[in-house]
Amino acid sequence: MNQQNKPIHGVWASRWVFILAATGSAIGLGNIWKFPYMAGENGGAAFVLVYLVCIALIGVPIMMAEVMLGRRGGMSPINSMGRLARDAGVSQRWKAVGGLGAVAGFFLLSLYTVIAGWALFYIWEMASGALRGAGAEEVTAVYEGLQANVWLVLGCHTVFMAMTMFVVARGVNKGLEVAVRILMPLLFLLLLGLLGYSFTSEGFMPAVHFLFAFDASAFTVKAALLAMGHAFFTLSLGLGAIMAYGAYMPREVTDRKTGKRKPVSIASTVFTIAALDTLVALVAGLVIFPVVFANALEPGEGPRLLFVTLPLAFASIPFGMMLGTVFFVLLTCAAWTSSISLGEPLVAWLVEKGWNRIKAAVVIGGSAWLLGIGTVLSFNYWSEVTFLGRTFFGNLEFLTINIMLPLGGLLIAIFAGWVMKETHARKELAMQSFGLYMVWRAMVRVFAPLAVIAIFIFVALVPDGDDADEAEADVPVVETVVEPTGLPETTDE
Ligand code: PHE
Repeated sequence: MNQQNKPIHGVWASRWVFILAATGSAIGLGNIWKFPYMAGENGGAAFVLVYLVCIALIGVPIMMAEVMLGRRGGMSPINSMGRLARDAGVSQRWKAVGGLGAVAGFFLLSLYTVIAGWALFYIWEMASGALRGAGAEEVTAVYEGLQANVWLVLGCHTVFMAMTMFVVARGVNKGLEVAVRILMPLLFLLLLGLLGYSFTSEGFMPAVHFLFAFDASAFTVKAALLAMGHAFFTLSLGLGAIMAYGAYMPREVTDRKTGKRKPVSIASTVFTIAALDTLVALVAGLVIFPVVFANALEPGEGPRLLFVTLPLAFASIPFGMMLGTVFFVLLTCAAWTSSISLGEPLVAWLVEKGWNRIKAAVVIGGSAWLLGIGTVLSFNYWSEVTFLGRTFFGNLEFLTINIMLPLGGLLIAIFAGWVMKETHARKELAMQSFGLYMVWRAMVRVFAPLAVIAIFIFVALVPDGDDADEAEADVPVVETVVEPTGLPETTDE
């Protein structure tokens, strides 16, 4: 089989660009929106600890497998899997792993751009100063007003989808690479700036305590399993996004110092990505909670933490509107580089079928936009329309995050560990330490698949155990009412 990256789509200019792109995919709504409230509600440090273990023991090995399969396949996940299956002498049905991922990516894209669209709206709310000095009622009314205004949400969803597909249409080097080169440093800079502000806040120590003080009693099996599911989502695993990016990863680069060609190590690259993703999630917690605590607000607001609690805090502090603007620009950048990676695998596949990239981006973006209307409506007209107790949005989110992602990860681990020829895997990974290679192999063959199966059993046993939304029932101070939309509402305001 062809061992070289055929530059149909392009190759990242360097290892660092790949790191920026993959980190850009990984860091998103999962880190800044979901992680802080999940950690806060599931025992703080107890949750953080399990999450870190999951990232290290399941996330990193599966991510290495995805990058390895992608780089060896050199194409979109569907066609890479086809090539790799041929290479391994097994059925072309393995292409379905890529297909499953592509569908999951498409579903996720459709809802991701709706939530990210809310962030766009909040940039405007903050920058215009509309919320300055606003009280709880007013801030809640703004959030609820947004949800009720279908045209506004649809407009934001449209803009965000257009931003995403604009980048994807420009291709790997002129689009994706340019975007991550600009957006990722900006994101880190904004986050550092906000962290600097947090340090000076009187809420900083309570926030540290909230996130890191180990409370063994808060530790539950459910929290452990939630942490594991989130590890998949936050690292963008199981749907081929990382596999697609891996296909554009160079095998060798020129060493700046010696001028010689040297191999690009998958293992150290993946460690860097996982470390950056984790760091950003933790720092996001340290940015959000100090503002919340300094204003004596409730941290257990779940999904509303970012769109109600935080704006409420920003409304009352000095320079709050400016900080708030920076925060929502940051969230937008993070979500943008993630949504790009949701669209790329499918567009790349169509390009391999001979489509023009712009046409492919328009068709995929347009269809995901259409499907996204279901999510938009789930928060208003269709909020009462439920199936299996969840709205359209709730079902799509549940299906993708809790079923398709872990299933994809499981199949990827099985393929990398059991199906492909061992010599091929070892050659592609090119790890210097044989011991570490054996650790990786044991992880993808045994540990990771077993852990994923555990998630499935959990999902089957706890019918509504989708994500941290559900864990809100554990928050002591606030009374939680699960609305028909599937998003819990707190009623302490
Ligand atoms: N990792 C992204 C986040 O944390 C979400 C994502 C999942 C992006 C899967 C691409 C693929 O928000």
